[in-house]
Amino acid sequence: MNYSASKICKIFSLSTTPQFSKFDLIEAENSGNIPKQSLIALNKRTQKLWSPEQLPLIGEKFGFMEKPKSPKVITTFVTKGGVLKTSLTLNLARIAALHNINTCVIGLDMQGDITTCMGYDYYLDDDLNINEALEQINATKGLMDYYLGDCTLDETIVTTDLPTLSFIPETPELVALNQSLNTKNKREFWFKKYVTEPLKEKFDLILYDCSPNWNLLITNALTSCDALIVPVECKINNFRNLKMFNSFLTQFKSEMDLDFKTQYVPTRYSQNRKLSREILKWYEDNLDNCSSYFVRESLQGEEASALYLSVPEYAPLSPSALEMNLLVDEFWQKINNKRRRRKKLAQLSPRP
Ligand SMILES: Nc1ncnc2c1ncn2[C@@H]1O[C@H](COP(=O)(O)OP(=O)(O)OP(=O)(O)O)[C@@H](O)[C@H]1O
Ligand SMILES: [Mg+2]
Repeated sequence: MNYSASKICKIFSLSTTPQFSKFDLIEAENSGNIPKQSLIALNKRTQKLWSPEQLPLIGEKFGFMEKPKSPKVITTFVTKGGVLKTSLTLNLARIAALHNINTCVIGLDMQGDITTCMGYDYYLDDDLNINEALEQINATKGLMDYYLGDCTLDETIVTTDLPTLSFIPETPELVALNQSLNTKNKREFWFKKYVTEPLKEKFDLILYDCSPNWNLLITNALTSCDALIVPVECKINNFRNLKMFNSFLTQFKSEMDLDFKTQYVPTRYSQNRKLSREILKWYEDNLDNCSSYFVRESLQGEEASALYLSVPEYAPLSPSALEMNLLVDEFWQKINNKRRRRKKLAQLSPRP
């Protein structure tokens, strides 16, 4: 996919700034401040467009996320399935990478969803037969191979379509890693020492995408992180679970002497449902550190994840895209201890 000036304005929600238009991007291109567009053939016509690899340099200049002063580690986790943990990780990862923030995603769920979202099997050649494809997949090095000393940490890192986005794929051997860590001293801190800290040498942002179950991989991701994102569905069955989760989390933080920030993000909000509206209100009123923005239940959100894109990339004109940018902007400012400096995104409330 390639991008026009007006689409790029939408991806970074620049068009919400009255004083910024696509002509400012063209001017920046002409004066050499951002990369040059290429002529791309489209349906018998040619059009000047930017390629995905060029977007990070544009995002760094005109977007809303700044590179952090020191590397940040974010974990997405809650003990509930299907609440958009992986979708939030995907969106945060791609939006950050589009701002030239060098990002590494680490998948800790044996289901392998974030690995798929990073486009892993996407790159397998269509001409392969099943044995060749399996051989290629089996050659994938994961954290267990690194733990066993069969490869270096660098050898587990896979690149993506964006030059600023890499990931460590989930492999079935994560089950064995979880078991093996059990026998280690300081077993909750193995990732911190051997994965997170070394990755900080190369990356500005490290994201752990978790499964919904407490296990040693998850506790390792928690001891590693500066901030925890907890997606909370705007659905009634989330209530009981959340209470239990919060008490587990408080106990774990206190026992492990951790002080990461927790950010609750309401997800799957349906404005047409009274109960959903009431639950959202309850979260806003009762949860410390509840995001001011939510992820609404939407087809665009679902389709974006299915195509391994962030919502702003996939459906830049949709309310979901603006909401995702607002959510990421607010979260990023918080964890970087920045006061809200931008008027352009913050002034806009997407809520109807
Ligand atoms: N805004 C949205 N509205 C509705 N569905 C969405 C939205 N965004 C993503 N989805 C879809 O919801 C499903 C569950 O999302 P996701 O995989 O992110 O949840 P999860 O919490 O990571 O689940 P698990 O606990 O299985 O890891 C996915 O199929 C995803 O494509
Ligand atoms: Mg998931």
